[in-house]
Amino acid sequence: MSALSRIGVAIDSDLLEKFDALIARKGYTNRSEAFRDLIRDELVEKAGERPDAAVVGTVTLVYDHHVRMLSEKLTDIQHEAFHHVLSTLHVHLDHDHCLEVLVLRGKSAAVRRIADMLISTKGVKHGRLVITSTGAEL
Ligand code: NI
Repeated sequence: MSALSRIGVAIDSDLLEKFDALIARKGYTNRSEAFRDLIRDELVEKAGERPDAAVVGTVTLVYDHHVRMLSEKLTDIQHEAFHHVLSTLHVHLDHDHCLEVLVLRGKSAAVRRIADMLISTKGVKHGRLVITSTGAEL
């Protein structure tokens, strides 16, 4: 960790009040940690936009496993991308629905491409990719 720098920030009182209420709801005990997290979140998001950035991502999928060949299609995509798929979690939500969470690792462009293929597969009811940092640059 590098040395700490102290900064002064001028901020509108109403805005600060809303910020304090927000971070209190989230469980922050001080503003500094909340500011640091906001900054890191922005840095991770911007870094992840570079196609060649090394990232980790989670893809969450909800689908009806009765849709013809859907499970097979999703599995085929994952096998095609096996170098990038670190882990998968499958939960049978109810009689019809499955939840799948995949952990992907690789260059941002590759992770996004795999996630897009999975999410856009016909029969997937909801899908979302969350890209995060490998932590090395934070
Ligand atoms: Ni299932």
